[in-house]
Amino acid sequence: MSATDQARSETIEALLTEERRFPPPPEFAANANVGPQVYPEADRDFEAFWAARARELEWEKAFTRVLEWQEPFARWFADGRLNITVNCLDRHVRSGKGSRVAYYFEGEPGDRRIVTYADLLRDVCQFANALRSLGIKAGDRVAIYMPMIPELPVAMLACERIGAAHSVIFGGFSPDAIVDRVTDAGCVLIITADFGWRRGKQVPLKDNCDAAMRHTPNVRHCIVFRRTGHEVSMHEGRDLWWHDVIRDQPDSCEPAALEAEQLLFILYTSGTTAKPKGIKHTTAGYLTGVATTHKYVFDVKDDDVYWCTADIGWVTGHSYIVYGPLCNGTTGILYEGTPDFPERDRFWAIAERYKVSILYTAPTAIRTFMKWGPEFPARHDLSSLRLLGTVGEPINPEAWMWYRDVIGGGRCPIVDTWWQTETGMIMITPLPGVTTTLPGSATQPFPGIYPDVVDERGASVPPGGGGYIVIRKPWPAMLRGIWGDDERYVQTYWSKFPHMYLAGDGCRRDDDGNYWFMGRIDDVMNVSGHRISTTEVESALVDHQAVAEAAVVGRTDAMTGQAISAFVLLKGAELGSEALAEELRAHVGTKLGRFTAPKYITFTNELPKTRSGKIMRRLLRDISEGRALGDTTTLADSSVVAELQTRAKAEAQKEE
Ligand code: PRX
Repeated sequence: MSATDQARSETIEALLTEERRFPPPPEFAANANVGPQVYPEADRDFEAFWAARARELEWEKAFTRVLEWQEPFARWFADGRLNITVNCLDRHVRSGKGSRVAYYFEGEPGDRRIVTYADLLRDVCQFANALRSLGIKAGDRVAIYMPMIPELPVAMLACERIGAAHSVIFGGFSPDAIVDRVTDAGCVLIITADFGWRRGKQVPLKDNCDAAMRHTPNVRHCIVFRRTGHEVSMHEGRDLWWHDVIRDQPDSCEPAALEAEQLLFILYTSGTTAKPKGIKHTTAGYLTGVATTHKYVFDVKDDDVYWCTADIGWVTGHSYIVYGPLCNGTTGILYEGTPDFPERDRFWAIAERYKVSILYTAPTAIRTFMKWGPEFPARHDLSSLRLLGTVGEPINPEAWMWYRDVIGGGRCPIVDTWWQTETGMIMITPLPGVTTTLPGSATQPFPGIYPDVVDERGASVPPGGGGYIVIRKPWPAMLRGIWGDDERYVQTYWSKFPHMYLAGDGCRRDDDGNYWFMGRIDDVMNVSGHRISTTEVESALVDHQAVAEAAVVGRTDAMTGQAISAFVLLKGAELGSEALAEELRAHVGTKLGRFTAPKYITFTNELPKTRSGKIMRRLLRDISEGRALGDTTTLADSSVVAELQTRAKAEAQKEE
């Protein structure tokens, strides 16, 4: 066992002896959307369980088949037809809920808009008609690169209205990253805005698209929403203003009756190679999964105001800002900016203003709020909150308790939800009216989901033990593969253990069967809940002319979970300087996006390698985290290590 694993396992041992237990408050349990009987119901026949949930949707043509499983390819409800926008919009408006608020939108500069379900339906129809008039048809892929404004869900839903698939690209990505994603998916259209607001500055979204579109010949058009109004260049014939394309469009649009397995979206996520994976999600199973989990895990009621603070550029936003909540007719918040603009109480000001009752955010945000101090939430009345959620990375018990006490006033259950871009929906989570929670544990599988923890040979590990988290049965919102690369799909998720989906996380179960997640077991880092591949950052570094070789590891960070730590070997005799480190950060920022720039850069003359030439990342992680080193006998040249330890230490002190 390496020193890293040793340290992790000690932490986990400590967690497993966690004594605090929080049963659901009796009143919460009495009124919850779902009770304990849902578990045995699902276990009796998991396909029947999901089929019953799917029947709660509105179908254009009812399905008769539930699951077709040709491992590892699933088809759910495959002979049915429906349209997601009908489920998310039309049926609410038809049943008299058109004036219900879908989103309270708040822009970062303070501008506010109220978007009702009727508004959303009208906007989606108009924009869908505009897409059609530009020749977009069912099966086409459309890239969306937008700020967190209502037009982002409008664009997504408009694609779905006519059967096109979207590929949302997080607004923090750079032009190169846009090129990779647009090219891989074969997108024919990009939808963007002139700029977005971030911490008072304008993010040049259209400029980034312009730079990208020099290398994406298949993109026929770029639709631009005017967000800030500052000048951007418009390429005649190719670029079109949003307000122009919708101008004469009718405000109704016949929804396409889509096959249940029609591609809904592609979302790129990092894997262990430099090439991101385009995760495919399809229509009916995905909607069934996200709507059911949203209803049960967040216990949403008609009078709740629900706020998921994620960015729609990530899967959390897809599933729990757009599709799940809209399908359930929920009233939600859409906030464009950062939590510290103009001041560090922005989230709490919003929560108070709209009387938010359900808040879903990330551990990294909670740790940041902890650091800023309780005086910021204390400025506001947060008594409307009744349920809190977290997602994206393991939450440390201290942050969990702070969230519970300071934000939730000690009265709100916390749901720590484990899932992934690939799973599409929440997989392991408390049900707030049923589950007794423990700080730091995601607790139990959602009804109808069958995970296991297995050892290196694929054998189930008894309670108390740790290993790989796997999923043993298909689930409706599961990924349908990797865009254009079935082989990689099989290799990545289905080849390590037969008949099990490999999630890529380490996990332990305690004696009560509660799950405790231990982070990734592969070369994927988790920085502020963002998945970033070490190889992607390495390629971006090596792309710089001065760099000969680079090795990147995730280093434990009190605030962001992990921080990116890079070991860089320069060409020639160059030694490296703070100025060059800054330049490299900027370079990675341009290649991939600012959020992927390494926090720590250690220059070195050599990287620790095995005799066969493989970089020893574990060792680098130990060095980076200042730990005693494990086994170094396989090192080709052991003198490398002492030198690196000295340098990494100096680097860390500089940062602190
Ligand atoms: O390592 C797990 C971590 O985030 C990874 C999935 O990242 P992504 O696909 O970007 O989706 C994030 C939002 C769903 C997982 O493999 N992760 C996510 N939620 C948790 C978590 N780790 C521990 N506890 C969680 N609640």
